[in-house]
Amino acid sequence: MSYEAIQQAAAVIAERTGRPEHRVAIVLGSGLAGYAATLPGAVEVPYADIPGFPLPKVQGHGGSLFSAQPGEVPVLCYSGRVHTYEGWDMADVVFGVRTAVASGCSTVVLTNAAGGAGDGLEPGDLVLIRDHLNLAARNPLVGTNDERLGPRFPDMSDTYPRDLRDLARQVAADAGVTLKEGVYAWFLGPTFETPSEVQMARRMGADLVGMSTVPEAIAARHMGARLLGISLVTNLAAGISPVPLSHEEVQETADAARERFTALVDGLLRTLH
Ligand code: HPA
Repeated sequence: MSYEAIQQAAAVIAERTGRPEHRVAIVLGSGLAGYAATLPGAVEVPYADIPGFPLPKVQGHGGSLFSAQPGEVPVLCYSGRVHTYEGWDMADVVFGVRTAVASGCSTVVLTNAAGGAGDGLEPGDLVLIRDHLNLAARNPLVGTNDERLGPRFPDMSDTYPRDLRDLARQVAADAGVTLKEGVYAWFLGPTFETPSEVQMARRMGADLVGMSTVPEAIAARHMGARLLGISLVTNLAAGISPVPLSHEEVQETADAARERFTALVDGLLRTLH
């Protein structure tokens, strides 16, 4: 997807939302997709109305962008995302975050559902992403680099900056929500991991395993945005869990945690700028 296509999508977002610029973007993962519509004064733009936008296929993921201003600055909420395992090109997977950064968002919040692999993690836990492991051997920046988007060799040593994590912890404390912290490992999916893959990821330093987020983090970082990542542990990872994994379990835990996750996201969108 070209630089021009990203600019064009950003122009349509500005026109349709009536806001020339947004400052913070959030990608709402499984179970949180319904949240954006509840924001006061939210303006909805269906992805289908934005040129170049990939349309989500998985049930439980919505398909609209919402613009709102719950705090000091206008925010863009991406309600539903597309995943690499659906067969999308990497450029499609990251089109949303690229349009967000092109729309002025210098802070991007990525949320997801993940399996808990680290010691002490339990279903229902909310976990700040401290760093990630790209275990999918895919990268959205493969190919010719467009210098207008960012550098050929982006630095990834401070992808999820400490000051944003500290701020998130403060917001969580104010909302009465407990936040843990860990490293997220991206597996391509769509199979859940094998127990051995989970053990491998643990030994590599992973606390969370999931099928999203890392491509978007890479693309947003490439464009100079700062990232905040939040995982909801919907299940213990394969082999740690005593029962087989299922999408139903993921959705049930996401449903049960919605109130806490929403309180955290609400506080963040009022505070980030
Ligand atoms: N593995 C990968 N992705 C996931 C999981 C998991 O255990 N749970 C929710 N998304």
